[in-house]
Amino acid sequence: MTGRTSTSATSADVPARPRLLVGRGFESVALAQRLAQRTLPRSVYRSLLAGSERSATVADNSAAYHELGLAPVVLGQTARPSLATTVMDQSLSMPVLISPTGSQAVHPDAEVAIARAAAARGTANGLSMFASKPIEDVIAANAKTFFQLYWIGDREAQLARLERARQAGVVGLIVTTDWSFSLSREWGTPPIPRRIDLPLIARRLPEALLRPRWLTRWALAGGRPPELRVPNVGPRGGVAPPYLDAYVEWAKTPPPTWDDLAWLREQWTGPLMLKGVMRVEDARRAVDAGVDAISVSNHGGNNLDGSPAAVRMLPAIAAAVGDQIEVLTDGGIRRGSDVVKALALGARAVMIGRPALWGLAVDGESGVANVLDILRRGMTSTLRGMGKASIAELAPRDLYIAASFPPAPPVALEPRICASTHEDPS
Ligand SMILES: Cc1cc2nc3c(=O)[nH]c(=O)nc-3n(C[C@H](O)[C@H](O)[C@H](O)COP(=O)(O)O)c2cc1C
Repeated sequence: MTGRTSTSATSADVPARPRLLVGRGFESVALAQRLAQRTLPRSVYRSLLAGSERSATVADNSAAYHELGLAPVVLGQTARPSLATTVMDQSLSMPVLISPTGSQAVHPDAEVAIARAAAARGTANGLSMFASKPIEDVIAANAKTFFQLYWIGDREAQLARLERARQAGVVGLIVTTDWSFSLSREWGTPPIPRRIDLPLIARRLPEALLRPRWLTRWALAGGRPPELRVPNVGPRGGVAPPYLDAYVEWAKTPPPTWDDLAWLREQWTGPLMLKGVMRVEDARRAVDAGVDAISVSNHGGNNLDGSPAAVRMLPAIAAAVGDQIEVLTDGGIRRGSDVVKALALGARAVMIGRPALWGLAVDGESGVANVLDILRRGMTSTLRGMGKASIAELAPRDLYIAASFPPAPPVALEPRICASTHEDPS
């Protein structure tokens, strides 16, 4: 890239400059992360960033993508490659969905802003059961909303949640059963408070005062601090339980079984995804249980630290079940080229967690839309450089795959990689 503009280039040849990049905006997810770090109070930022224990899996989720190279063509580029696809019966403008995350304390508009951005960019979002906004409000912002369910309480409790989600009009269910209650964060994250009271505010005030933009947002949104409540755990319109109370009830609930998943499948007739699959045998059992989709995922590195990057497990899992159900993946995707790599290895689409939260922190709905634009632009230029007219043409032969790429046992992870990818980005 010389920076010189070809005189023969037509407007169709030049990728459109996304509207949001004119004026304020950011041009990479890495930059969004840096800006988010400067916007959020330190404890909020770190609670989003840190994975479990020493965060080796968080680091590997991204590092694994660097072990995959792209094969360019010298001629035969494609000017406007097609990115459109469908996931669980929803037509999407691109193969990127927003993964469910609780975005408590990031931005007052929280999951509603995320859903609006997803809708504006023609894609779907997953809504966490631990989100801060009610399902009904999020669906009003994006009809393509999948509700993510954790197994908390007995089967009656699950049925009540399914019924609320059905009445609200969610287009599918994401069932997350991998959470392992790994509370040790060697990076150190603040304990979850039961409520935000005066003593807590006094303790956190010094770090909040350093973030006037964040403080102003909450001041303009009613002047109250983030509530840390979870309105989707209980019935519609009821008093939303505090995050911590729901978390404690969850910890006390016996972990769900494969029979519970099969039961859930019988109760929910719409599309259903099992999120968190990391073994081929589990992918096969998920098919047997009747799910429509899986996400190959390690919960963004928040569970078993030392499990490999999700994308390392993707090829084997996609080969085993990709012709029977939709296989997605999430974890460590930061560029459009990462999305292309995942698709070449058999993913139908990907989901993003932290990148959407960085965008939300920086600029609410516009920030999330900005992140989606970055990924779209990156996918378009990657496919163009590889001479692909459509994401449907991608295959493993389009990648240079480093010998180190196959699933590495956790002991093979380089501490150097973990340290460098985990430095604060500033
Ligand atoms: C702060 C945070 C909260 C999350 N909350 C949930 C959740 O409530 N439900 C869920 O299924 N996954 C949750 N996840 C996992 C994401 O859905 C997703 O699997 C992960 O973030 C993908 O990795 P990435 O952050 O590298 O993109 C959360 C992740 C983060 C970082």
